[in-house]
Amino acid sequence: MKEKLEALLQGGLSELSDVTTEESLHELRVKYLGKKGLLTSVMKGLGGLSADERPLIGQMANVVKAQLEERVDSVLQDIRRKNKEEKLKSERLDVTLPGRRRPLGTKHPISQVIEDISAIFAGLGFKVAEGPEIEMDYYNFEALNIPKDHPARDMQDTFFVNDSIVLRTHTSPVQIRTMLKQAPPVRIIAPGTVYRCDSDATHSPMFHQIEGLHVDKGVTFGDLKGILTIFVNQCFGSGTGVRLRPSFFPFTEPSAEVDIACVMCKGKGCRICKNTGWLEILGAGMVDPEVFRHVSYDSEAYTGFAFGMGIERIAMLRYGISDMRLLFENDLRFLSQF
Ligand code: DAH
Repeated sequence: MKEKLEALLQGGLSELSDVTTEESLHELRVKYLGKKGLLTSVMKGLGGLSADERPLIGQMANVVKAQLEERVDSVLQDIRRKNKEEKLKSERLDVTLPGRRRPLGTKHPISQVIEDISAIFAGLGFKVAEGPEIEMDYYNFEALNIPKDHPARDMQDTFFVNDSIVLRTHTSPVQIRTMLKQAPPVRIIAPGTVYRCDSDATHSPMFHQIEGLHVDKGVTFGDLKGILTIFVNQCFGSGTGVRLRPSFFPFTEPSAEVDIACVMCKGKGCRICKNTGWLEILGAGMVDPEVFRHVSYDSEAYTGFAFGMGIERIAMLRYGISDMRLLFENDLRFLSQF
């Protein structure tokens, strides 16, 4: 029996040394140490031994069992450690690799210009006001002294929703909404989207304007020119020439169109300014008493000025963009330049 136990131990140890997986280790443990395993079957022969031999062989069997168990345990640790190492190796991260760049968006040039102009006027005490893009004919035209059948309606190719509702053709109706809501003094700008049925390299059916309105006691045409000169100098650089030309708008009297010295040739004359040296950037004037009548402001006590400008035009001049449609195609190669 002694030889049998020795052979069993040697066989077990040598088989264990070849094991590489937890499953085959488990099988071997069952084969040698399980209830129906080899050790048990050898032990069955104990009964046939003499009383002297029995304890010796029993002790030896225990030693064999303990050795095999110990080896099984150490092989198990080895297998687990090896598996872990392999897993770590295969899942290894190289933290020194450069990260993948996520492209960062930029503000649309139109948004940038709106923010810049708003900031300039905020510095001059103007608050931002807003109105709806789907507007009553009354606010868009009538209250601005553009009655039905007035020829001035032809200046703006209107998108009609129905007889009394339009897509606003300018931001001027925000003047009306603001004055109906509050008593003077008023000092607001109103940036926003406007719509006209027009489309080519310098016109888009959807574009943006900023309206300005200042009403108080004693506001003069000189104040208008002063504010606009400050604005032009901050927006296009100090020393930029400004001139006012007489014009007509139904909601202002007198009215003016405001030009700046050409940003390209500084007034010498070039293709951009059609050799005039000047670029028109906005319309303005003193609020017509007829407009005050519609909002129940006392035109004997109060005067005011108003102005309105196209954002796209300002953006095009500022960034040297020749086709307005580029601003709306949303080609990232174009937009990411700003
Ligand atoms: N609403 C005019 C337009 O869209 C622009 C304008 C001109 C606004 C003169 C004004 C103004 O407030 O006084 O063409």
